[in-house]
Amino acid sequence: MEQQNDISGRLALITGASGGIGAACARQLAAKGVHLALTYSTNVSSTSSLAEELKSKHSDSYSLRISIHKVDVSSADEIQHMFEEIDQQHGKRPDILVSNAGYGKRIPQVWDISLEEFDYTINVNLRASFILAKGVVEHMKSQRWGRIVFMSSIAGQGGGINGCHYAASKGGLTGMMKNLSTRLAEYNISVNDVAPAMIGETGMIPSASAIPEVAAGIPLGRLGLPDEVANVVTMLVTTGYMTGQSLLLGGGLK
Ligand SMILES: NC(=O)c1ccc[n+]([C@@H]2O[C@H](COP(=O)([O-])OP(=O)(O)OC[C@H]3O[C@@H](n4cnc5c(N)ncnc54)[C@H](OP(=O)(O)O)[C@@H]3O)[C@@H](O)[C@H]2O)c1
Repeated sequence: MEQQNDISGRLALITGASGGIGAACARQLAAKGVHLALTYSTNVSSTSSLAEELKSKHSDSYSLRISIHKVDVSSADEIQHMFEEIDQQHGKRPDILVSNAGYGKRIPQVWDISLEEFDYTINVNLRASFILAKGVVEHMKSQRWGRIVFMSSIAGQGGGINGCHYAASKGGLTGMMKNLSTRLAEYNISVNDVAPAMIGETGMIPSASAIPEVAAGIPLGRLGLPDEVANVVTMLVTTGYMTGQSLLLGGGLK
C-alpha cells in the first residue's frame, strides 16, 4: 500500500507554473522526484528560470524530466496542442494534474462586469479545468492511479475581494471537483481543490500594500505564502485516501 502515495517518478502537469503558487508547487513536487510539465501563458522567463533552477538543484539525486509549454488555457486548441507536446516529450499523459492557472480582474459589482469578462473568466478558471481533466483521465483510469487538484479560491465560498464572475468560476470548480471525486473514486483517482485567500508573493497579490484594508482584516495578521498553498497540494497528492474535499487556506478569513 505504500506505493499508493509514493509519487517519485510520476509526471505532474502544473498549469500557471510561471506564477507564485504554481512555481511553489513545482518546487515541492520536484523535491519529491516528480517529473514536471509546466505551463505559462505570457511569462516565459520565470518558467525557464524555474526549470533551470530545479534541474540544477536535483541533478545529483535523480534525473528530473521537465518540459515547458506555452498555453492560453482559454483555448481548447492550445490545451490540445500542449497534450501533444507532453505525449512527445514524456511519452505519456500526466499522473498528477494541478490545474492552477487562473485569472481574476478585481471588479466587485455585478453592474460593472461585462458579459465578455464573465465568459473569459469562466473559460480560464472553470472550462479549462474540465478540458484538462478530460485530457488526463483516460491515462489515470487505465493505470488505476491519479491525483487531480484544482486551484479554487475563498471566492468560491462567497468570500474574497472579487466579483461574482470570479466567485462563479471558482465555486464551479468545487462543484465539478465534488462530482468528479465520486465518479472517479472507483479508478483510484482522487479529486480535491484548495481554496486559498490572500496569498502574497503572487502576481495577483504581490504584497500586503496592494490590498492594505483587506490585509489588515486577516485574523492571522499576515498574507499567506505560496509555499503554504503548495504544502496543501503536496499533502493531497501524497494522501490518496482524501478525496472530494475543498480545503480553505485563508489565515482565518471566512
Ligand atoms: N494569490 C491569491 O491570493 C489567490 C487566492 C485564491 C486563489 N488563487 C488562485 O491561485 C492560482 C494561481 O494564482 P497566483 O496567486 O499564483 O497568481 P499569479 O502569480 O498571477 O499566477 C497566475 C498564473 O496563471 C497563469 N494564467 C493566467 N491567465 C492564463 C491563461 N489565460 N492561460 C494560461 N495561464 C494563465 C499565469 O501565467 P502567465 O503569468 O505566464 O501569464 C500565471 O502563471 C489562480 O488560479 C488564482 O485564481 C490565488
